[in-house]
Amino acid sequence: MTNSVVRVSNVEKVYGKKGENQYKALNNVSMEIDKGEFVGIMGPSGSGKTTLLNVISTLDGISNGKIQIDGTDITTMNQNQLADFRAQKLGFIFQDFNLLESMTVYENIALPLSLQNVSTKEISPKVHAVAKTLDIEPILQKYPAQLSGGQKQRSAAARALVHNPSMLLGDEPTGALDSKNAQSLLETMTHLHEDHNITIMMVTHDANAASYCKRIIFIQDGELYKEIIRTGTREEFFRQILDELAALGTQG
Ligand SMILES: Nc1ncnc2c1ncn2[C@@H]1O[C@H](COP(=O)(O)OP(=O)(O)OP(=O)(O)O)[C@@H](O)[C@H]1O
Ligand SMILES: [Mg+2]
Repeated sequence: MTNSVVRVSNVEKVYGKKGENQYKALNNVSMEIDKGEFVGIMGPSGSGKTTLLNVISTLDGISNGKIQIDGTDITTMNQNQLADFRAQKLGFIFQDFNLLESMTVYENIALPLSLQNVSTKEISPKVHAVAKTLDIEPILQKYPAQLSGGQKQRSAAARALVHNPSMLLGDEPTGALDSKNAQSLLETMTHLHEDHNITIMMVTHDANAASYCKRIIFIQDGELYKEIIRTGTREEFFRQILDELAALGTQG
C-alpha cells in the first residue's frame, strides 16, 4: 500500500493539434503528494501551474505519462467516469466562493451530496459534521448575502469537503480576497491539514499564502525546477520562498 494520494509520472501536456501551433505546457513532470500533505505550487506566470492543477483535477487531459489518484489511473477514464471521479474524490476551493445566493448555507453545503443522489437522511449528519469542523453550525440557515467574507469562505470550504474527498485543490484561492479574508482562508486550510489530515494542493504566486504550506514545488517553463520543505517557522519559510522567487526571477 502506498501513502500517496497523487502520483504524477512523466507527464507531458501539449496544447494545440498536430500540425498547428503546438505548445508544450508540461514537460516530463513527475511528483507525488502524500496523504495529509499541504503542498503549494509556485512559478512565474505561464509556467504551467494551472495546467498542472487542471490535469491532476481531471479537468483537462494529458498528452503523455500517467496520473494516479488514490491508486486509480485517471488517464484511461472516459468523460463520464471522470465526472463521477471528480464528484466523489475531489474538492475545489474557488476564488469567488461560488456559493449559490438563492440557497441557504446548509443547502449549499449539501449540494455535492444531493447531486450524487445521497438520501436526505444521510445528508444531514454529514453537513452538520463538516459545519462543526469549520465552526459555521450557527449560520447554516442563513443565505450567502447575510454572511461575512470569512463565513462565506468557510461555507465554501465546507461544501468542498462534505463528500469527504481525497484532496482539496485550489488555483489561487486567495487571489480575489482582501488580506484579512485571505488570512482566514489560509488559517482554515492549515486547520484542515493539521487537525483533520486533509490533503491540500494550492497554486499561488503569493509568498505569504505559500508560507502556510509545508512543501512548495516550483515550476518553470513546464518543468519541475525545485522543491523546498518547511522545517522551521512560517516566517522563516516565507523568507526562504522570497529568496527562491528572486532566484527564479533573475534566472529567467
Ligand atoms: N488552452 C490553451 N491552449 C494553448 N495554450 C495554452 C492553453 N492554456 C494555457 N496555455 C499555455 O500554456 C502555458 C501554461 O499556462 P498556465 O495557465 O498553466 O500558466 P500558469 O502558470 O497558471 O500562469 P499564471 O500564473 O499566469 O496563471 C502558457 O504559456 C499558456 O499560454
Ligand atoms: Mg494560472
